[in-house]
Amino acid sequence: PLTPAQVLALPKVELHLHIEGTLEPELILRLAERNGIRLPWADLADLQKQYEFTDLQSFLTLYYANMAVLQTPADFADLTRAYLARAKAAGVRHAEVFLDPQAHTVRGVSLATCINGVAEVLEQSEAEFGLTSALIVTFLRDRPAAEALAMLEELIEMEAPIEGIGLDSAEVGHPPADFVAVYDLARAHGLECVAHAGEEGPPEYVWQALELLQVSRIDHGIRSLEDENLVNHLVERQIALTVCPFSNVRLRVVDTLDVHPLPEMLARGLAVTVNSDDPAYFGGYLDDNFQALVTTFGFTAADLAALSRTAVHAAFLTEDQREPLL
Ligand code: ADE
Ligand code: ZN
Repeated sequence: PLTPAQVLALPKVELHLHIEGTLEPELILRLAERNGIRLPWADLADLQKQYEFTDLQSFLTLYYANMAVLQTPADFADLTRAYLARAKAAGVRHAEVFLDPQAHTVRGVSLATCINGVAEVLEQSEAEFGLTSALIVTFLRDRPAAEALAMLEELIEMEAPIEGIGLDSAEVGHPPADFVAVYDLARAHGLECVAHAGEEGPPEYVWQALELLQVSRIDHGIRSLEDENLVNHLVERQIALTVCPFSNVRLRVVDTLDVHPLPEMLARGLAVTVNSDDPAYFGGYLDDNFQALVTTFGFTAADLAALSRTAVHAAFLTEDQREPLL
């Protein structure tokens, strides 16, 4: 079997990573102190006790609360730098990073503060950390679609350095169909389109993301397995699914890793990629997710390389940029 050192050294591509989900407890405390923010936790151990989740919403509540410490462009830059350093150590060669601007603007942090803080560091990712990167702005589906549309207009107006848009937050009750106008505008401006679908929500939401939002990747998508026609469609079109094993276990989408459907998804011919989602919350980064596939399912170097190859093809890269990663 592969050794941990070999798993670490494999070149990897991350396509589903929320930058706010890389905010580690230690950094939360450091930024709280720097910004004079009082947190409801007594100390690090008390904060760390909060990381037990029963579903997506129980995680989102802590995830959004912790963002209170992110106030200045420097805070967003420090967060992004810490992620890139960790990603480099994990063997990540290319990362497409989600940012949730509405989670910041609703608490009085400007769009420019969060975008520029993250973007200025991502621009240096290749020079400083040896990995290429892209920024994808994700809209919160449990907030009004009109708010997302207005924000996208603002992002276009300010010529924000973004590669595409996505859709995340509480899924059930917030179907992709509500966001057609947002995705139409994004596409008209040449932006790439992805959306979370089929994490907690039904296969119908995956169909809507594909047919109404015309996304080129589905984030999560594991509930697609409940619809044979959908599986066949995803296989025929080779639409990539950005699957996040640790996330699915910690958010109770699956009971345990050993019953995760990832091997079945691969056997069905789905274009599966493996990603870390919110690694500071779910017990590990991309290397840890890869290592768990080795330990739990006996994945070989060839299995892991195949996952990475799928991710390279699903990444928003030119053929020239893809080549060194293949
Ligand atoms: N925001 C951050 N992580 C998320 C996830 N896994 N699902 C939905 N929204 C999210
Ligand atoms: Zn996610």
